[in-house]
Amino acid sequence: MEKKYCGIIFDLDGVICHTDHYHYLAWKKLAEKEHIYFDESINHRLRGVSRMESLEILLERADKTYTEEEKERMAEAKNTIYVELLGQMTENDLPENVKRTLDDLRKKGYLLAIGSSSKNTKRILKYIGLENYFDAISDGTNITRSKPDPEVFLKAAEMLELSAEKCIVIEDARAGIDAAVAGGFASAGIGEAKLHSGVTYQLESFEDLTQIV
Ligand code: BG6
Ligand code: MG
Repeated sequence: MEKKYCGIIFDLDGVICHTDHYHYLAWKKLAEKEHIYFDESINHRLRGVSRMESLEILLERADKTYTEEEKERMAEAKNTIYVELLGQMTENDLPENVKRTLDDLRKKGYLLAIGSSSKNTKRILKYIGLENYFDAISDGTNITRSKPDPEVFLKAAEMLELSAEKCIVIEDARAGIDAAVAGGFASAGIGEAKLHSGVTYQLESFEDLTQIV
């Protein structure tokens, strides 16, 4: 049977591993220090969005305005807390069903890529034992516009030497599904992203991926 897709582009935080929770904890700590209200529902809006743009969303609830320099310092402080949390990660933080599914897809001949807005992507992949696993890594270090802009996925497809319609994007963020739609990619949504009206497939669990590609 001919494959519908040849390349699979995975978001990292919240799809491959649960670093989305560490992002939440780090922003929460920063918000508390600055006496800014922050909760899980605001956190959902940060999924897929770059560090500085995430900070702008968090600051919507601030009582004062911050200078650009102060914002830079806050983003850096959040990243320091986040990187410290990442330091506890090991190969055990790669869920077993995710690894099994990735291995299965690889065996079936799909090209596998990462498409993440994070500048910490390579560090995380190393911690969870996937340092040299993917055929391409497009991340926060090679893009100028973060999701919902499709740049990160278009770059991933280009690295795989595939057109957008030969790839499928796997996402947990609404902004990620917007990016997939804007780039002409099919998508599979998990968690929050499942509820997006533009999503091609709704994934109940990661391993269901093998049924849809
Ligand atoms: C995305 C996360 O993967 O990366 C966002 O979903 C995060 O929440 C963004 O803000 C940028 O991450 P980093 O590690 O560069 O601060
Ligand atoms: Mg994500």
